[in-house]
Amino acid sequence: ATGLLRDRLGRPLTDLRISVTDRCNFRCSYCMPKEVFDKDYKYLPHGALLSFEEITRLARLFAAHGVRKIRLTGGEPLLRKNIESLVEQLAALRTPDGLPLDLTLTTNGSLLVRKAEALKAAGLQRVTVSLDGLDDTVFRRMNDVDFPVADVLAGIEAARAAGLGPIKVNMVVKRGTNDAEILPMARHFKGTGVVLRFIEYMDVGATNGWRMDEVMPSAEVVARIATEFPLRPLEASAPGETAQRWAYADGSGEIGVISSVTQAFCSDCSRARLSTEGKLYLCLFANGGHDLRPLLRGNGEGEAGASDDDILSAIGHIWQGRADRYSELRALRGPDTTDAAAPRRVEMSYIGG
Ligand code: GTP
Ligand code: 5AD
Ligand code: SF4
Ligand code: SF4
Repeated sequence: ATGLLRDRLGRPLTDLRISVTDRCNFRCSYCMPKEVFDKDYKYLPHGALLSFEEITRLARLFAAHGVRKIRLTGGEPLLRKNIESLVEQLAALRTPDGLPLDLTLTTNGSLLVRKAEALKAAGLQRVTVSLDGLDDTVFRRMNDVDFPVADVLAGIEAARAAGLGPIKVNMVVKRGTNDAEILPMARHFKGTGVVLRFIEYMDVGATNGWRMDEVMPSAEVVARIATEFPLRPLEASAPGETAQRWAYADGSGEIGVISSVTQAFCSDCSRARLSTEGKLYLCLFANGGHDLRPLLRGNGEGEAGASDDDILSAIGHIWQGRADRYSELRALRGPDTTDAAAPRRVEMSYIGG
């Protein structure tokens, strides 16, 4: 019964986000604050990482269960050595109907100038680039490693030139930090074919010091852009999509807003997340994951790993038991509450957003 998998809330499993490294060359304060992710921080040891063969095997089994879309994430996925070779293996996978998977990647853009062509050649379809402002001073402060904005813009251009499109750009909005960049960003990308998306700052992880007063509700972002560029709402392009889409009334493209805080979208969330070390997370805000690595590797004492059929059925059981809907529950409790009962929530850099 592949492709018919439903969780306890009736949601299908159609998207898999695969984190390929927990490391990043940026230190965005909302994700990897320097005070926590310092030189003593214990990243995953090399042997804990799933190999490309292990990732591809799991991805093939998820595809057999109905997954149609795979997104590589990190940390920063382009830091994983030879990532092109993983892309090539994933690009060869097919859905049960024989179609290639929608294969994409979310990156900070810092290595795209170097890697865009090779990624395209390996079979990557598109990329999403995170960019939190155009003003160089603001951007350097956001990434907190003094990385110049010009290099990310060059990365976006390299991706476009390589044919990795349509490109999306993600801007996390923190009120008082980079909200003055909303209009400059809209002006910059309007009419370029790049889809700019504004993301509400979320209470992911347990280290970023999230506060509701730093969240700018998407309704406010849309209203601000509409003062300069009239907008009209668009239909969702896929069920369970993260972004609400808006078109510029003059036909020069679209923007999106991702409103996980003020308008939770759990009710049709079809995303599973695979961590770098092979744990399956059923929600971005989960406290823990289901470890699939022992199924791949055996118990390390000579016991063999599981068969494809056993892993398929394990994935099926895990998904069928899923009832996660963290953002909705938080909204029901009141939008300005983070879950104090879940202080061990997984970090964004570990699970890839
Ligand atoms: P597209 O398929 O291209 O629209 O990408 P996406 O929006 O699914 O993924 P992307 O990596 O661009 O993530 C955009 C933002 O949405 C990030 O801040 C993610 O953390 C957030 N996001 C993605 N999926 C979920 C989800 O299931 N729940 C919540 N709360 N946030 C999510
Ligand atoms: N809130 C919202 N978005 C976040 N991202 C990272 N941390 C947060 C957070 N606390 C974004 C990144 C990237 C995407 C995968 O998630 O900027 O675009
Ligand atoms: Fe790195 Fe992305 Fe996290 Fe910034 S948001 S620290 S670029 S993983
Ligand atoms: Fe899905 Fe969890 Fe995000 Fe809700 S909070 S949309 S269940 S990942």
